[in-house]
Amino acid sequence: MYKLAIFASGRGSNARKIIEHFKGHDTISVALIVSNKKNAGVLDIARDYDIPSLVIDRKILYNNKTLLKKLQEYQVNFVVLAGFLLLIPQYLIEFYNNKIINIHPALLPKYGGKGMYGMNVHQAVKAAGEKETGISIHYVNEHFDEGKIIFQASCTLGQVDSPEDIARKIHQLEHRYYPQVIEALLLGHTMPTGQ
Ligand code: GAR
Repeated sequence: MYKLAIFASGRGSNARKIIEHFKGHDTISVALIVSNKKNAGVLDIARDYDIPSLVIDRKILYNNKTLLKKLQEYQVNFVVLAGFLLLIPQYLIEFYNNKIINIHPALLPKYGGKGMYGMNVHQAVKAAGEKETGISIHYVNEHFDEGKIIFQASCTLGQVDSPEDIARKIHQLEHRYYPQVIEALLLGHTMPTGQ
């Protein structure tokens, strides 16, 4: 049995897609939502789907005792980051060795690193005049956006696409692929092919 914790700081549209995908699944369930923002939309989603949630601050995240204990209490054995904006501490990376993944809204290694999240990424992609962008799903290590890449999918951009248009295209790819990639990874199935 896989019990997932989803860490998210924002709206939580990816978290929602993942929750919906695994509702009633035989072997994979979402056991806990963790957020560092007490007003994050993802907490409303947790409530809607009756999934326990936990609000943490930096102090809790970087102090191994409380958070790790909570994750163990909920028997979490895989962690999914979906728009979580704080760096994952070393003790979690060690405990969940190769069991923490992240989604990044660009084709890494481009447009990754500290400060590169959400609209910042799409604005940078627009400013560079890129003709394509995409999503990257990767293992999490101690550096922002540097862990081994598991899956990428891309989309084309036109000159008229604004950063908001880019965000929409990226969210579409994320919603389509993140749940499928998590399932394929955990169950050892073939990965979908990102176009
Ligand atoms: C997603 O686009 C995700 O790729 C991005 O935040 C958004 C969260 O949206 N993550 C990063 O930028 C991490 N560097 P959501 O809250 O609607 O799922």
